[in-house]
Amino acid sequence: MKRFPEGFYWGASTAAYQVEGNIHNCDWAEAERERKVPPCGRACDFYNRYDEDFALARSLGMNAQRFSLEWSRIEPEEGVFDESQIEHYRAVVRSCKKHGMTPFVTLWHFTLPQWFAQRGGFIRRDAPEIFARYCRFAAEKLGDDVPVVITMNEPEVFAAGGYATGFTPPFEISPILYLRALTRLAEAHRVAYTAVKEVRPDAEVGIAKHNIFFTANKNPLNRGLRAAADWFWNHSFLRRTEGFHDFIGLNHYHFRKFGMTRAERDEATPTFFGCYEHPDSLYETLAALKKYNVPVHVLENGVADGTDVRRIDYIRNAAANVHRAIETGVPVKGYFHWTLLDNYEWLFGYGVPMGLVAVDLKTQKRTPRPSAETYAAICRANVLE
Ligand code: BGC
Repeated sequence: MKRFPEGFYWGASTAAYQVEGNIHNCDWAEAERERKVPPCGRACDFYNRYDEDFALARSLGMNAQRFSLEWSRIEPEEGVFDESQIEHYRAVVRSCKKHGMTPFVTLWHFTLPQWFAQRGGFIRRDAPEIFARYCRFAAEKLGDDVPVVITMNEPEVFAAGGYATGFTPPFEISPILYLRALTRLAEAHRVAYTAVKEVRPDAEVGIAKHNIFFTANKNPLNRGLRAAADWFWNHSFLRRTEGFHDFIGLNHYHFRKFGMTRAERDEATPTFFGCYEHPDSLYETLAALKKYNVPVHVLENGVADGTDVRRIDYIRNAAANVHRAIETGVPVKGYFHWTLLDNYEWLFGYGVPMGLVAVDLKTQKRTPRPSAETYAAICRANVLE
């Protein structure tokens, strides 16, 4: 039996664009109109159904939820803030609390307002100040009801998709722009962190960082590549923003082995998108964050599994990894499963069922999967049996 510390946060994570539906004024919606990414449409209609979804999450034993605000709803034009939209999110936060769960709010999860994207997005020189102005506004308006604020989700994934691989808006492939975007994003977090702390000194502020567990075979070249990838992907952004994290949010999905053999590949269990599970990777990734000396929340971790055959073991193994990390001195304070509801997956549309709860997109009916009950048992008892 593995007992977790008192007050441990158990929750699920969502992102506005992936669940709310009908968001039209951002770069992703524009990419949809240009048929570069799959259509999102009404998604899970979370914009209207958040209260029942929070009730459902609570009935599954969770005591916290992570969700995001849609920047393009709140600041539809440069410097123009829509009070009715911030009021909407205040209602979402109140609902979360009413259901007995602590809200963890991400201010920006991948989608950019059209006006910002059209004028260069995070490549702009003044992007950090523009971002920080929005963050300050949102954090101040949400007020004390939100104890934990995540300024940005996976800046390195955003920069890689938009400027290195060219898979996501603005679909550029340019090493120079890629590095510039990373620099601006690091500065944007630092400035936003400071702005949010000015209006909400009591709030815990950090980012959600996508870290991979890199391994290698014995070949020295592969070992070198492993070390370089680990430094560049996992640690360089955290180092550039050191001192500006009250906690580190870890999004963790997979491991990568340099020099993986075909036989190893055949034996490995795929999670999704050509990634594989590794039984210890969550533990190893958490252990590597100990040196930052700040609390850690696992803010995303999950598997695409519509049949729900693997999710039960996946969740139990994740909880065991978190427990092991805590026992070895990593200050892990929460675990948020990705995701609550089957949702819109950026490049794949609705074909990637990652939810604890299945959603029938036509009727919007929610059906918790058996694995949701496995998770609920852990959340309710604060114990992994
Ligand atoms: C992102 C989510 C995404 C998930 C699964 C994470 O990198 O934050 O928005 O849906 O991975 O791909």
